[in-house]
Amino acid sequence: MTDTAKLILGDQTIELPVIVGTEGEKAIDITNLRAKTGYITYDPGFGNTGSCKSAITFIDGEKGILRYRGVPIEQFVEHPNFIEVAWLLIFGRFPKKEELERFSALLTEYAPLHEAMKHHFEGFPVDAPPMAILSAMINTLSCFEPQFSKFEDDEAFEQAAAKLISKVRTIAAYSYRRSRGLPFMYPDPKRRYCSNFLHMMFSMPYSDYEVPAEIEDALNLVLILHADHEQNCSTSTVRMVGSSRANLFASCAAGVCALWGPLHGGANVAVIEMLEAMHKGGLTPEQCLKMAKDKDSGFRLMGFGHRVYKNFDPRARILKEQCDKVLATLGVKDPLLDIARKLEELALQDPYFVERKLYPNVDFYSGIIMRALKIPLNMFTVMFAIGRLPGWIAQWKEQHDDPTNRIARPRQIYTGPTKRDYVPMDQR
Ligand code: ACO
Repeated sequence: MTDTAKLILGDQTIELPVIVGTEGEKAIDITNLRAKTGYITYDPGFGNTGSCKSAITFIDGEKGILRYRGVPIEQFVEHPNFIEVAWLLIFGRFPKKEELERFSALLTEYAPLHEAMKHHFEGFPVDAPPMAILSAMINTLSCFEPQFSKFEDDEAFEQAAAKLISKVRTIAAYSYRRSRGLPFMYPDPKRRYCSNFLHMMFSMPYSDYEVPAEIEDALNLVLILHADHEQNCSTSTVRMVGSSRANLFASCAAGVCALWGPLHGGANVAVIEMLEAMHKGGLTPEQCLKMAKDKDSGFRLMGFGHRVYKNFDPRARILKEQCDKVLATLGVKDPLLDIARKLEELALQDPYFVERKLYPNVDFYSGIIMRALKIPLNMFTVMFAIGRLPGWIAQWKEQHDDPTNRIARPRQIYTGPTKRDYVPMDQR
C-alpha cells in the first residue's frame, strides 16, 4: 500500500502522496500543494527539499555512506581510474573494455584547444583567479562547439561529454601556465588522463615531467572522490541552469562559479590558509577552535562540518589514510599534516563540535595531497572542478532526458512594503 501524508490547514485536510526511494528514503510529494491550497512550503537553504529524483549518487549522511551508481566509493580506491568512474556516472553502467577504450581515445583526440582559444588566455590579467578563467573558458567552448547546443543522439552526447572532460584539464593547465608566465604545453597523446594534465602543468619545452605511477594513482583517487555528491550547491546550480534548456557547457560554467565559494569547493584553499597560519605561529590549534566556536568571530573551522554528513565524511576518511601513503611515496614531510591531525583530534573531543556533529569533510585532507603533488594553492578549487565535472555532466543528462523536467522556479514569501504610490523626486 502506498503511504500518504495528511496535512490539516484550517478546516481542510489534504492528502499528499509519499514517494519512497530505492534505499528507503521518504519524501512527501507537494507538487500540487499550491494548486490545491494556495500555500507554498518555506525551506531556506533547501535542507528538507528534494529537487529531483536521481539514480546517480546515494548518500547516507548518518552512516557515512557514499555510492556512485550503487558502488561504495571505497571500492574505487585500490585501482583508481577516474575515467572509468566518469563513464559509470554519466552512462549509469560499467563500461565494457571497448567502450572505455573508445571514450579514452576521444579524450586524447579532444585534448588540444582550438588555436584561437589560446588567445583568450592572453586577455586575462596574470593574477586572474583560475576559477574565473575556468568558468569563462568553459562557456567559451559553446562558441567553438555550437553543434552541441542540442543532441541528436547518445553518440553526440558522448562526444560533448568527452570534449568537456578532456578540454577542462587543458584549460586548467593553461590558466596556471599563464599565471606563471610560462609557455603553454600541448597535450601529449601518449599519456593517460591524469599524467597528461600534470605534463601540461609542469613539463617545459626542454624537459618532460615524468609522472610516477603512485602520483597518477593519487590524482585519479582525488578526482574520483570529488566526482559526484548528488544535489549539492554547484550541482543544483548546473541543474537549475540546465532546466531552462541552457546547453551543457553553459550549465557547467555556472557550476564552476557556485563551486568557487569558500563554503563549498573554495573550502580546500581556506583549509590550507588556516593550517599555514597555524604553522607560521599566527594561531595555535586551541586558539583556532576557540575562534571557530565564537559566533561573533565570523570564523569557521574550515574543512569541518557538512550539510549531509553528520557522522563522518567517507571521502575524508579515505584521504586521511592516503595522505600518509602519498607523502611517504614522495618522500615529503609536510608539517601541515601534523597540525591537521592535532586539530582534528582536539575538535573531535570538543563538546561544541561533538554536539553539532561536525566532522572533517573532503576538503580537510585533500589539500595536503594536492600540495604534495605540487599543485599550487590557487588551483585547488580548479582541481575540485575537474573532479566534479563528470557528476555535473551526469546530472545535466539525467535532467535533460527526463520528460517531466520543468524549468526550476522556486517561489518566495514576500516581506517588502505593501502597495504604495510612487513619490516624485521633488517630494522625497
Ligand atoms: N566551524 C564552526 N562551527 C560550525 C562549522 C564550522 N566549520 N560548521 C557548522 N558550524 C556550526 C554552525 O555555526 C551552527 O551552529 P549553531 O547551531 O550554534 O547555530 C551549526 O554548526 C550547524 O551549522 P549549519 O550552518 O546549519 O550547517 P550547514 O549545513 O548550513 O553548513 C557547511 C554546512 C557550510 C559545510 C558548514 O559546516 C561550514 O561552513 N563548514 C566550513 C566550510 C567547509 O568546510 N565547507 C566545505 C563543505 S564540503 C564541500 O562543499 C565539498
